[in-house]
Amino acid sequence: MSLERSRWRVEDSIEVEIVVGPGARRELGRLAREAGPYSAAALVADGGAPRGPLRDLAEALRAAGLPVYEKTLPGGEGVKNLETLVGLWGWMAGHGLPRDTLLVAYGGGAVSDTAGFAAATYMRGIDWATVPTTLLSMADAAVGGKTAVNLSAKNIVGAFHHPRIVLADVELAETLPREDYVSGLAEVVKHALLEGREFLDWLRRSAGRLLERDLAVLTEAVRRSLDAKMRIVARDYRERKGDRMLLNLGHTVAHALEKATGYTMRHGHAVAVGLVVEGIAASLKLGLPRETVEEVRELLASLGLPIAPPRELDPRSALEAVKLDKKRRGGRILVPMLRAVGDPVIVEMELGEALSLLEEAWRIAAGAGGE
Ligand SMILES: NC(=O)c1ccc[n+]([C@@H]2O[C@H](COP(=O)([O-])OP(=O)(O)OC[C@H]3O[C@@H](n4cnc5c(N)ncnc54)[C@H](O)[C@@H]3O)[C@@H](O)[C@H]2O)c1
Repeated sequence: MSLERSRWRVEDSIEVEIVVGPGARRELGRLAREAGPYSAAALVADGGAPRGPLRDLAEALRAAGLPVYEKTLPGGEGVKNLETLVGLWGWMAGHGLPRDTLLVAYGGGAVSDTAGFAAATYMRGIDWATVPTTLLSMADAAVGGKTAVNLSAKNIVGAFHHPRIVLADVELAETLPREDYVSGLAEVVKHALLEGREFLDWLRRSAGRLLERDLAVLTEAVRRSLDAKMRIVARDYRERKGDRMLLNLGHTVAHALEKATGYTMRHGHAVAVGLVVEGIAASLKLGLPRETVEEVRELLASLGLPIAPPRELDPRSALEAVKLDKKRRGGRILVPMLRAVGDPVIVEMELGEALSLLEEAWRIAAGAGGE
């Protein structure tokens, strides 16, 4: 008997509605009505985020005719685990929430990664919206569809599941402690370096007002950042072709720094130093002009971000962590690097070569910017 064969293309095309600006949270009711119909809303909130805007969200959902079920989680990395996830599943199932429930995550990246994964898995996936409350989550984590919890290591269990609605309400950044706010700016710089000269020059001109949390400038920074990320994500949603790996710029070194400091260094601070070290590596390997590296250092410093690895760290032992990097392929590793601003490439190197290159760059960065 002959074999009957057929081939189907079944991937969904997903629409993500993104609104950025002061008061963006008030769009939730209208957008939920447009994206729906939904029969209920599950509002999962970060206990560290301001409470007033949370009430606005609940009201907007009720005004859109949805019964609202609310759950508050403690914010921060400690929440991103299987226990929280099981708790969310049980809470939704306990209320008998159906498949046409809209889950709304309100919080930092830890809460949205966890709530997003609950949405990806509850009843095989329900729609979700996200209202990020930290600068890092507004400018980065809110879009791209990566959801996960931690297990033996970070983000070990997760799913790709885009939110249908992203409301980056910059007013919510007003309550962030200064160091957390500044830390979020590192990802904005990263997106500008990937995107191109126009964004980078705008950022340099706007650094002062951005630090003052001028809402108009902050809106522009977040919008440009999300656009830059979505342009890359749209080309390689599931990180299959490699394009999405470009978003890891600065992160090979950043992850090593976080590990070596026992995760006491803020992520954005580690990314800032990573951008400098990997920038120097790119100038050694690909001829990225040293003036560009200097420009990046000055920009990061003007935003209050660190630009040199802590002196007490030994580069060789800190960089051991690179051997466990998720971009490693056997004895080789893929490292995103800049040839020029707006011209990133994925460089494949022998692991040994990458380690020596990064170590040399680290030593130069420590010498050039050490405090
Ligand atoms: N999914 C992605 O694409 C992606 C991208 C980058 C980072 N992440 C993840 O994001 C997480 C980090 O997120 P984060 O930097 O937002 O930190 P976070 O979620 O850990 O929150 C940090 C602290 O800020 C508090 N907080 C939240 N909003 C606040 C506000 N408006 N005012 C004052 N305090 C507030 C929280 O309660 C928490 O204590 C990590 O787990 C990381 O893996 C995910």
